[in-house]
Amino acid sequence: MAIDVSYYRSLFPSLEGRTYLNSCSLGMLPQRARERAAQYFDLWMDLGAAAWPQWLAQGERLKALVAELIGAKPHEIALHPNASAAMYSMVSCLDFTQRPKVVYSDLNFPTTAYQWLSQRHRGAQVHLVHSPDGITVPPELVIKAIDERTLILPISHVIYSSAYILDVAAITQAAHRQGALVLLDSYHGVGVVPTDVKALDVDFLVGGMLKWLCGGSGLAFLYVHERWHSQLHPTSLGWFAHRDPFAFDVENLTLASDARQYQGGTPSAVSFYIAEPGLEIIREIGVPAIRERAKYLTSLLIDLADQAGLEVRSPRNPEIRGSTVRLRVPDSQALTSQLLEEKIVVDARGDAVRVSAHFYNTEEEIEGFFASKAIRQLDRPLTDAPPARHR
Ligand SMILES: Cc1ncc(COP(=O)(O)O)c(C=O)c1O
Repeated sequence: MAIDVSYYRSLFPSLEGRTYLNSCSLGMLPQRARERAAQYFDLWMDLGAAAWPQWLAQGERLKALVAELIGAKPHEIALHPNASAAMYSMVSCLDFTQRPKVVYSDLNFPTTAYQWLSQRHRGAQVHLVHSPDGITVPPELVIKAIDERTLILPISHVIYSSAYILDVAAITQAAHRQGALVLLDSYHGVGVVPTDVKALDVDFLVGGMLKWLCGGSGLAFLYVHERWHSQLHPTSLGWFAHRDPFAFDVENLTLASDARQYQGGTPSAVSFYIAEPGLEIIREIGVPAIRERAKYLTSLLIDLADQAGLEVRSPRNPEIRGSTVRLRVPDSQALTSQLLEEKIVVDARGDAVRVSAHFYNTEEEIEGFFASKAIRQLDRPLTDAPPARHR
């Protein structure tokens, strides 16, 4: 079903008066998030430390919303302040002595590489799969690298720079055939690309609220398939990983029997409040509808980029393209600053800008981006001829 864009825009008052095409960096603030944050402050003011049971219950609500979004069970979710923390708690459950090899692409987000490079002193051997074009990660290249020495594939669901969508199911099947694990970094997938952890059969998944989930900073999540709860145990954890944190037992570490064993210390409870409205809105609209809209808007973006003579550095096939289009430009920092003067927000990354389309974006905004003075004045062409279009 088509999204009622004007209704959903009205839930994000800060979209008024500017063209916001930067959800790949930071999702816009839902008005309700301010109200929910006020609830957190009211509880703090009224109850002091006695607010904790309510704050922790709110964390459980968040877990349930995240679980539903990715087809998991709430007890398979641990909450963390960011994706890096979620990953290093997960990495700590691994032993590299029998299987040292870690396979991932050179298009991974840096934090999803550093986790593994930092484990070399524990025996990890990183095998980097090089993208042939800086845009895609052909599954056959990843699959070819998997062997009986491979422990894990920490792969990106949607490449942060180009928005290429990996064939996760094919890679996971090949990994499992060799007895290797898969950690999916779905930061640019969850909420915009239908993501069912059971259908994909990944062992672990990380994601966060900051971008497409419009939930602000301070909250990320780790999914751990329940088949691993009693077999793998983290060694980097906090007291909330204990079966009963409030037993204050310092002689024994009895871990929670579910994904809570991956939990760190005292959570940032305010983020449980701020993150909820974004998740609720995404749930209400539905990820399939958000996905269709992104395919449509990013196709429009590519058509207009072709007409403007700008080089597209994202997949042209919408089926393997997430919600962002990367366009090569001569000076991305200068361009984003000029665009800001025209109240248009996109993201500068090296030799390109990332322009993203979320459910609240309109055709007019995308047309407005190309009609801007900053874009019209760009030196071009960067390409000889515009390639074939895909709508
Ligand atoms: C693919 C991917 N993973 C993870 C992150 C964020 O990691 P963290 O929450 O640790 O900052 C980002 C942020 O840009 C990302 O693009």
